[in-house]
Amino acid sequence: MHTTTEKILVTGALGQIGTELTAKLAEIYGKDNIVASDIRAQDQAITAAGTYVQLDVTDSERMINIVAEHSVTTVYHLASLLSGTSEDKPMFAWRLNVEPLIVLLELAKEKKIKRLFWPSSIAVFGKGIPKKNVKQDVPLNPTSVYGISKVAGEKWCEYYHDKFGVDVRSIRYPGLISWKTPAGGGTTDYAVEIFYEAVQKGEYTSFIDKDTAMPMLYMDDAIDATIRLMQAPSAQLTVRTSYNMGGLSFTPKELSAAIKKKMPDFKIDYKPDFRQAIADSWPSSIDDKVAQDDWGLRYEYDLDAMTDTMLLNLKEKLKH
Ligand code: SER
Repeated sequence: MHTTTEKILVTGALGQIGTELTAKLAEIYGKDNIVASDIRAQDQAITAAGTYVQLDVTDSERMINIVAEHSVTTVYHLASLLSGTSEDKPMFAWRLNVEPLIVLLELAKEKKIKRLFWPSSIAVFGKGIPKKNVKQDVPLNPTSVYGISKVAGEKWCEYYHDKFGVDVRSIRYPGLISWKTPAGGGTTDYAVEIFYEAVQKGEYTSFIDKDTAMPMLYMDDAIDATIRLMQAPSAQLTVRTSYNMGGLSFTPKELSAAIKKKMPDFKIDYKPDFRQAIADSWPSSIDDKVAQDDWGLRYEYDLDAMTDTMLLNLKEKLKH
């Protein structure tokens, strides 16, 4: 266990990343040093944290009070609306994805917290760049509401770091694949749904077309990278917008071929919906050399290892 006196608040702790990150943080820093929060009421799933508080992050006064009451030093601010849902509710997406981040940056500026993690996304990329091996410093021209909110957030992070020395750290996550907690409303979520339906029905209709490659990642690698970035010495970090993270790159067709190796009868067909346009605007692969050099980003899971783990765990989880 880590020995420094960190008191950690996680927002969005019942979400896809939140449930797994909270458990990992509790393992590292001790359960009693973790305050988990989410807009939903207490849930069995979050027994990993010492304290659970219900928190709507758009209620700034409540968020500020929770930070003070629990003497929070570090915040992992995960509460967010994903890309599909953000297109339906653009104003809400802006309010939820950007404004609470600024409230937390202000708290850091006032030295009421020491460190902040905020997730960005491959959705920051858009027009005018090559699709493959997208570098850290390319122009950001997103075409989705979600992407716009993430670019704005990144710029606020950099501004607070450069102007006030705020220690804010961020990763541009690829599509995250996991079995413990479902995602919801994301463009990359076909790659999670496909596993549930493979196990439950033996077939899947993908809302993303067969040859659309997107950057993707198994959750364990995302959690490992997040902890690695947050534990790196501040002076080593050269990026205060958000670090590129490439992970894997595959198409629905390639993913279904990996599933067929384990389930030869699995069937897939394709009915792209509005999320296809979002996927088409994103890169197919990403260069993350800067993250490797600055804080040692690395990966454990390739496509086959991820597929095996997903199928194994979901078969067990969905047995009843
Ligand atoms: N995976 C997210 C989405 O599809 C992107 O960050 O919305």
